[in-house]
Amino acid sequence: MVRRSPAEAEATIASNIELFTARLTLKAWNWKNIDPWQREVLKSQEKYMILGCSRQSGKSSTMACKIFHTLLTVPDALCLIVAEQRQSNEDIRKVKDLAKAYDKILRERYDGELTLTPVAENITSMELPNGSRVVGLPGNEKVRGYSAPTIVFIDEAAFLEDEVFIGIDPMMEVGNGQLILASTPAGTGGFFYHEWNNPRYQRFRVPWNQCPRISPESIEAKRLTIGDAYVKQEYEVEFLDELTSLFDENGLRASMDDTEDVFENTMKGINDQLSGKEALI
Ligand SMILES: Nc1ncnc2c1ncn2[C@@H]1O[C@H](COP(=O)(O)OP(=O)(O)OP(=O)(O)O)[C@@H](O)[C@H]1O
Ligand SMILES: [Mg+2]
Repeated sequence: MVRRSPAEAEATIASNIELFTARLTLKAWNWKNIDPWQREVLKSQEKYMILGCSRQSGKSSTMACKIFHTLLTVPDALCLIVAEQRQSNEDIRKVKDLAKAYDKILRERYDGELTLTPVAENITSMELPNGSRVVGLPGNEKVRGYSAPTIVFIDEAAFLEDEVFIGIDPMMEVGNGQLILASTPAGTGGFFYHEWNNPRYQRFRVPWNQCPRISPESIEAKRLTIGDAYVKQEYEVEFLDELTSLFDENGLRASMDDTEDVFENTMKGINDQLSGKEALI
């Protein structure tokens, strides 16, 4: 029997994106399973996809996997990650993590016969030897000048200005690229909410109960201390009217000690974190 070369063996594994991702995420992040919705997102070739997801459900890392697989399997691919600057750097970092983990897998398996070393990388981009690039762009910049991207991923889209989307949408008209929007909801204004109801998208709604790592107990605790509206928006993918208060001040006050300062500082902290999209708890 003719022995397959390492490159041929790897091409066979990469032809199954679920298998490829399972092996890679186990190595990179110690994932034991890929959630059903994550598998669907990985496999989908739909031109337009929109993901409305719970906090911490895995939207950014799933997209990092999809992007890394594309970089590896499509020569000269151009993948753009558009998000608020810190978020976009964080997402690029996830793709770079995967490249490192893949290189490790290759070295261990083929004794150095096959490796993956990026030809260029910095905080906002990475280029592979096959000419593929991933570039992170801040969502406050006019995103223009990139032609026929393979994937454009807009992360935390509900927190970006409409102008960003207006700049990107026409780029998708030429070529077969995929446009993928992901976010937790943030009210009923802006392009993410508007596109959520646009039938051109394959739509994924991923509330917390589709994420095995989030427990009903932690959700109930948040409902009691922070409030039902907060849980609905951040974990149950509901687009709430802008006027709805996200916090139940009484619940929060009761969960704090008596000093006013602790309460006021906590409220301020929550507001800051929400506007900056940092993890709350
Ligand atoms: N299938 C999985 N198995 C194990 N861990 C996972 C899985 N999917 C995601 N995670 C982990 O869950 C955490 C959150 O993932 P990620 O940051 O991608 O989620 P997110 O939805 O983008 O979160 P945020 O709302 O904070 O932006 C990470 O530590 C990630 O590695
Ligand atoms: Mg994220």
